[in-house]
Amino acid sequence: MTDPKMLAARFPGDFVFGVATAAFQIEGASKADGRKPSIWDAFCNMPGRVYGRHNGDVACDHYNRLEEDLDLIQSLGVEAYRFSIAWPRIIPEGTGPINEKGLDFYDRLVDGLKARNIKAFATLYHWDLPLMLAGDGGWTARQTAYAFQRYAKTTIARIGDRLDAVATFNEPWCSVWLSHLYGIHAPGERNMDAALNALHFTNLAHGLGVSAVRSERPDLPVGIVLNAHQIYPGSDTAADVAAAQRAFDFNNGVFFGPIFKGEYPESFMTALGGRMPAIEPGDMETIAQPLDWWGLNYYTPMRVHDDPAPGAEFPATLPAAPVADIKTDIGWEVYAPALGDLVRKLNADYHLPECYITENGACYNMSVEEGVVDDQPRLDYIAEHLSVTADLISEGYPMRGYFAWSLMDNFEWAEGYKMRFGIVHVDYETQVRTVKKSGEWYARLAGEFPAGNHASSAKG
Ligand code: FCB
Repeated sequence: MTDPKMLAARFPGDFVFGVATAAFQIEGASKADGRKPSIWDAFCNMPGRVYGRHNGDVACDHYNRLEEDLDLIQSLGVEAYRFSIAWPRIIPEGTGPINEKGLDFYDRLVDGLKARNIKAFATLYHWDLPLMLAGDGGWTARQTAYAFQRYAKTTIARIGDRLDAVATFNEPWCSVWLSHLYGIHAPGERNMDAALNALHFTNLAHGLGVSAVRSERPDLPVGIVLNAHQIYPGSDTAADVAAAQRAFDFNNGVFFGPIFKGEYPESFMTALGGRMPAIEPGDMETIAQPLDWWGLNYYTPMRVHDDPAPGAEFPATLPAAPVADIKTDIGWEVYAPALGDLVRKLNADYHLPECYITENGACYNMSVEEGVVDDQPRLDYIAEHLSVTADLISEGYPMRGYFAWSLMDNFEWAEGYKMRFGIVHVDYETQVRTVKKSGEWYARLAGEFPAGNHASSAKG
C-alpha cells in the first residue's frame, strides 16, 4: 500500500500534491522589519501557556532562510505550497498603518514560488491576530471583522496576482472554541459568551474577507480551511447517538451551516442563540457567499458520550474512548476510515464545492540518527490517508489535492517545539533541515506526476 507508484496510479493526473506550513510556526524574526506582536507572542510569554515557555521569536528562522526553504520545497518535487500570511507584518497594529516591508516578504515568497513553478496557496489568518486588536476585544469584537476585511484587501491587492488559491481562515474551530472556550490557544479564554461572540465575528470576517478578495481579484479561487470533525457516538445507546449529533452541530454545524447554508444549526440556536451577539441584517448573506473551494484539515476522529449531568452546557458531551489504541506521539488516535466517513457525511449534509485536503499528517518525534530520520509510522499514516482519499475520488467526490502537514518540524502551538509533524526534520540549534524517510517517500510519490502533473493528465 505504500508503494508510491501504485498509490500514484490511483489519483487523476491533475491531483495536486503539496506541503503546508503557517507563518507563526516557522517564520521567527518576530521583531523584524516592522512586525509587531500578535496574540500568540503575548501568550507564549505568559507562564503555563506553552510547553517550556517556548515562543516564535526564532522558530525555523524561515524569514531569513526563505530562498533555501523554497529550494527545499522544490527538491521535494511537489506541485504546491500552502503557507499563511502574518497579519502583524502587514498591518502591525491590526488597524492603521500598512507596513510595506511586511508585504515585501510575501512578494518575495510568491515570486520565489513562481520562479520554481510551484503553486501558491495562501491562508490569510492562521491565528496570529495583531495584539493591539486584543485591546478592543480581539475576535469578540465586531470591528475586528472589518479590520480583517481591510487586511485581506491590502494583502490581495499586493500579491493576489500571483496566488493560485486563497483561504480566509485556517480552522476557525481552533480560533473560536479552542481559544475562547477551552483556553488552550491564545488568547486563552474559558468563557462561552466570549466564544459565541468570537464565533459570529469570525464567520462574519470570513464573509467580508471573501468580498475583499473578490473586489481585488475576481478570478482568484477563494475558500476557507475547516478542521471538520468526524464524530462517532461512544456507544449505540440513543443518548450517545443524540450526543454525537449535538457534537456535530457544535463542532461542525456552527461553521458549515452559516457558510454553506446561511444559517446556524437549530439545536445550537435553541440552546445558545440567546447568548449570541446581535446578528445584523445582511450578516448571514455575507457569510454564505458561494466559495470556489474548501479545505479540509483532518488528523483524528472525535468520539463522544452523552453528559448526563443536570445543567451540562450544550453540547453536553464527554469524551469516549478510541476503538483501538493506535496513537501518534501527541496522543491523537490514528483512524483513517474516519476521513472517508467525514467527507461522505459533509457532502450529504451540505452542498460543497471542490475540496483540497489542506492538512493531514502525524506527530512522531524521531530524531536524526547517522544522518537519517526513520519515521516509518508517519509514512504509513500519510499513505493510509491518501488511500482513503483515492477511494473518495473513485466514489466521485471532488477531492482535488492533498497537502502534507507539515513541510518541516515547527512551533506546535501550546506544545511548543516538543511535537514534530514535519516530513523534514529541523534541528533548532543549528537550523539544519534533514529530509525524513517520509519526505523522501512523499517526493517519490509527487515525482510520479512530472511537470506539475500535466504530463499524466494529458493521458487521461
Ligand atoms: C492544525 C493546525 C496546524 C498544526 C496542526 C498539527 O490544527 O492548523 O497549524 O498545528 O494542527
